[in-house]
Amino acid sequence: MKKVLFAMALALAQTAWADGGMDILKSQCSSCHNLTGPAPQTLKELWARKGPDLFYAGNKYRKEWLVQWLQNPTRIRPAGEFYEDHIKPGEKHDEIDPATLKPHVSLSKDDAQAVADALMTLKPKSDLIAKEKIEEGTISKSMGEMVFDKFLGCMACHRIEPDYGGLSGPELYTAGDRLQPEYIASYIRSPQAWDPKIWMPNKHVSDMNIQKLVHYLEALSQENKNGK
Ligand code: HEC
Ligand code: HEC
Repeated sequence: MKKVLFAMALALAQTAWADGGMDILKSQCSSCHNLTGPAPQTLKELWARKGPDLFYAGNKYRKEWLVQWLQNPTRIRPAGEFYEDHIKPGEKHDEIDPATLKPHVSLSKDDAQAVADALMTLKPKSDLIAKEKIEEGTISKSMGEMVFDKFLGCMACHRIEPDYGGLSGPELYTAGDRLQPEYIASYIRSPQAWDPKIWMPNKHVSDMNIQKLVHYLEALSQENKNGK
C-alpha cells in the first residue's frame, strides 16, 4: 500500500513538474517561440519569427542537451534569427554584426529540467519521425565533408566548425548533441515538411546519403566535444 501511494505521489509530482515547465514556457518564452504551431505559412511570417519554433520540441531535441543548454545557452545560429537582420556587408563577404545580437535568457537547473520535461511532451510530428530508420555506421571525416560540401552544397549555409561555413543556417558541429538522429534525417529529406517556407532547399538527398550525413554530423559533434 505504501509503495502504491509512493508511486502515485511520484507520478503526480512529475506531472506537476512538467506543468510548472509549461507555465514557464507560456509566461517567459512564448513572446519569441511558437509553442502551439503551425509553422509560418508566408515569408512575411517567417521573417518576423523571433526564435525557432518549439511546438515540435519533443520530436526534435535530445532532452539532456535541452537541460544543459537552457542553463548555459550558446549561439547556434551564428547570425541569429532572422539572419538578414544581423549581417552587414564586409570587405570580402558578409559579416555578422555582433552589436545586434542579444544573449539568450538562461534558467536555473530546476527550471531548466521542468521546461525540458514540458518541451519533450510536444510531439505533433511523430509520423515524420517514424518514417526514419537510422542504421549503424561510420564515415570518415573527409568522406563526410565531401558529401556535405562538394556533392550537396550544405556548407553554403551551415558551419561545420566554429568560424568555418555559412551563416544563414544553424551551426551543425553540435547537431548530433542537440538533435535526435531521426529528426536530422527527416529534416534533410524534406525541410519543408517541418517548416513550409524555410529557405533550406530540398536537395532530394538519397537514402544512402542521408545515412552518411547523419553519421557525419554525429562524428562532428563527438569531435567537437572532445575539443579537437
Ligand atoms: C527575446 C526572444 C526570446 C525569448 C524570450 C526566449 N527565446 Fe529561446 N531563442 C531565441 C532565439 C533568437 C533563439 C535562437 C538562438 C540561436 O540560434 O543562437 C532561441 C533559441 C532557443 C532554443 C534552441 C532552439 C533551436 O532549435 O536551436 C531553445 C530550446 C529555446 N530558445 C528555449 C527558450 C525557452 C525555454 C525560453 C523561455 C524560458 C526562451 N527560449 C525565451 C529567442 C528567445
Ligand atoms: C540555403 C541555405 C541552406 C542550405 C544550402 C542547407 N541548409 Fe540546412 N538549414 C538551413 C536553414 C535556414 C535551416 C533551419 C533554420 C532554423 O530552424 O532556424 C536548416 C536546418 C538544417 C538542419 C536542422 C538543424 C537544426 O538545428 O534544427 C539540418 C540537420 C540541416 N539543415 C542539414 C543540411 C544539410 C545536410 C544540407 C545539404 C544537403 C543543408 N542543410 C543545406 C539552411 C540551409
